[in-house]
Amino acid sequence: MRNPTILASGVLSASGAALKRVYFEGGAGAVVTKSLSVEAREGHKNPTVIEIEEGLLNAVGLANPGYKNFIKELKYLKESGVVVVASVFGKSISEYVEVACGVAKYADAVELNLSCPNVEGKLFAQSENLSYEAVRAVKSKLKIPVFAKLTPNVTDIVSVAKACEEAKVDALVVTNTVKAMKIDIYAKKPVLANKTGGLSGRCLKPIAVRCVYEIAKEVDIDIIGCGGVFTGEDAVEYFLAGAKAVQIGTAVLYRGIDVFKKVCSEIEDYLRKEGFESIEEIIGLAI
Ligand SMILES: Cc1cc2nc3c(=O)[nH]c(=O)nc-3n(C[C@H](O)[C@H](O)[C@H](O)COP(=O)(O)O)c2cc1C
Repeated sequence: MRNPTILASGVLSASGAALKRVYFEGGAGAVVTKSLSVEAREGHKNPTVIEIEEGLLNAVGLANPGYKNFIKELKYLKESGVVVVASVFGKSISEYVEVACGVAKYADAVELNLSCPNVEGKLFAQSENLSYEAVRAVKSKLKIPVFAKLTPNVTDIVSVAKACEEAKVDALVVTNTVKAMKIDIYAKKPVLANKTGGLSGRCLKPIAVRCVYEIAKEVDIDIIGCGGVFTGEDAVEYFLAGAKAVQIGTAVLYRGIDVFKKVCSEIEDYLRKEGFESIEEIIGLAI
């Protein structure tokens, strides 16, 4: 990667053309696709994304065209020279493996979105065993790096991170959204059609920074921070907590597609002011 900023899955990531723009015009170091599954999914009914205090609440329902229909977009990205991470999910281990193997030829890395319910309804990332099995099964088939994206909706995120480490994951993405709800007090019902959704943006940052910090103390694999990165200062907070790179989603909406360039230049300002020569020097300094 040419810099440590990555477009997070699900934001401007539904087409090759949009991902290419984020990479070349926006200046991201890499881009992550929308999460892809075996079958196409329509997703939830509207409203699916709403603005709340200091963040967004979304319940898109993992809408995607199915991985086979997305391969032409991945090929186009590869031919264009974009560093691309394919986000994959499934309802079973075999579905994770099928999608990961199907996209691996056209991606630089695969990110397992473990915030997906299995057939019994439990999120993979809410179980050490399921996380271990998903990572292990995909790792045994792929040569390219495999990332695992964790959920903060657990009491002990470190034990899930350790399970992924044991399964030889290459990097952890910390974190996905926090489960939340907004009620319209006049309609007297939840605003999202799905009732609950995932909270992203500034309000997520203190939670995700804490998760990165706790994990970095206990595991020895690369961490990519994710949640509420709007500025270079936000990214620096993640580096100090132990992350080596950051993903940016919600901030694209507020600071524009070139948020990646802005964040990189703000990181450089910080390093210069504080007398550091590289990001490596500050990774984990707060621990
Ligand atoms: C509209 C929307 C759709 C998302 N879709 C996905 C998805 O398909 N897969 C996934 O792993 N995360 C998805 N996310 C979560 C983001 O990738 C990211 O983890 C989260 O938004 C926190 O980062 P942020 O505060 O920078 O947005 C989505 C987020 C938003 C706002």
